[in-house]
Amino acid sequence: MKHMFAKFHEKSMEDRKAAVFSFSQLNEEAKSLYCNAEYDQLSDQLVENAIGVMEIPLGVAVNFVVNQVERVIPMATEESSVIAAASHGAKLARPLGGFHAQVDGSYMFSQIHIIHLQDPYAAKVRILHHRDELIQLANQEDPILKQLGGGAYDITVRALEDPSSLVVHLHVDTLDAMGANAANTMAEKIAPRIEDITNGEARMKIISNLADRRIARAYCEVQQEQLGGADVVDRIVQACDIAKRDPYRAATHNKGIMNGITPIVLATGNDTRAVESGAHAYASKNQHYSPLTKWEKNSRGNLVGSIEVPIAVGTIGGATAIHPKAKSNLELMQINSAKELSEVIASVGLAQNLTALKALATEGIQKGHMKLHAKNIALMAGAKGDEIARIATLLLKDKKYRVDVAKHHLKTLRGEKAYE
Ligand code: MEV
Repeated sequence: MKHMFAKFHEKSMEDRKAAVFSFSQLNEEAKSLYCNAEYDQLSDQLVENAIGVMEIPLGVAVNFVVNQVERVIPMATEESSVIAAASHGAKLARPLGGFHAQVDGSYMFSQIHIIHLQDPYAAKVRILHHRDELIQLANQEDPILKQLGGGAYDITVRALEDPSSLVVHLHVDTLDAMGANAANTMAEKIAPRIEDITNGEARMKIISNLADRRIARAYCEVQQEQLGGADVVDRIVQACDIAKRDPYRAATHNKGIMNGITPIVLATGNDTRAVESGAHAYASKNQHYSPLTKWEKNSRGNLVGSIEVPIAVGTIGGATAIHPKAKSNLELMQINSAKELSEVIASVGLAQNLTALKALATEGIQKGHMKLHAKNIALMAGAKGDEIARIATLLLKDKKYRVDVAKHHLKTLRGEKAYE
């Protein structure tokens, strides 16, 4: 049966919009939200079936010093308190030098799963016997990467619990690219040769997002006076211990870290889902879901925080190369390599976590969060222009952060009767 969305992807953007509008019977006001000529062409290039853009606010976190370099950090996020929290964490770390960060390198790996093996352990040895040949074969797929000093450089083989299968890891230095395309293409290239060598059947040929050879690390020291005293230091250390023991808390702890990480990944045109799955898989690597940061008290009584997280991002290729704002966001940060970008991202994750734990260890999270969220509540209630700030002030005064309360204030403000 032919339906109205047949060959949808072949239609022009205008025709696609018309088809969707008529299907969904949107009103004129709603339709106008999809008119953004400036970005139509870009979205059409980036995704299939494009009908426009989804605008997410872009802000900058400040106060960041990473490896002695001052950085302005572009963050694309819809959550009101995130950018303020990142900036606050950076301010706390600044007096003792900010963040010190380091990365392993841009080492991705793709996996080739081989099944139906009679002799998996012998097959493993046979694969490793052909290691150099397989690496050379893989590198034929991306001679430029090789010329630039990257490319495939190692092969490792893991036996799985199933006694008739193996998984081959092809390790690739992707330099300044995130590298999924290069690593996937290489895996597909060498899979048939691995089938010959093993007499098995190659199934999945794809990167692993548990990029545990691409770990970014950062640490910072915060004076106890900055936090409000020794008691707060102890409480933050305890908060981290709780997260180590309780995976339910660890999930929220890590969500807070990702509040810092995802917005930069998005603002630089990188793959947020790749970084997120990598982070959560890494958090579970010891069979127990754990916090990605550690907080300790040092001999000076100061708080010391550290983070270890896989950060698979690039500064070339993918949307980073096509999206003009992704490019300019990298320029704004004065980032020149994937390595520098990963160091900054890990530092922001740590700063974000610091602010969250400080709030949770003291006054609670809602006070600061709601201060920023009150304007959103005013907007939800229909406030416009200078009404937004006035309604937000009233909500904060009464500590009642509810849309119905905001609507009530708005009616009063507009001189309407509060109850009809
Ligand atoms: C909210 O978006 C993030 C926090 O819940 C993180 C945390 O609890 O550590 C505040």
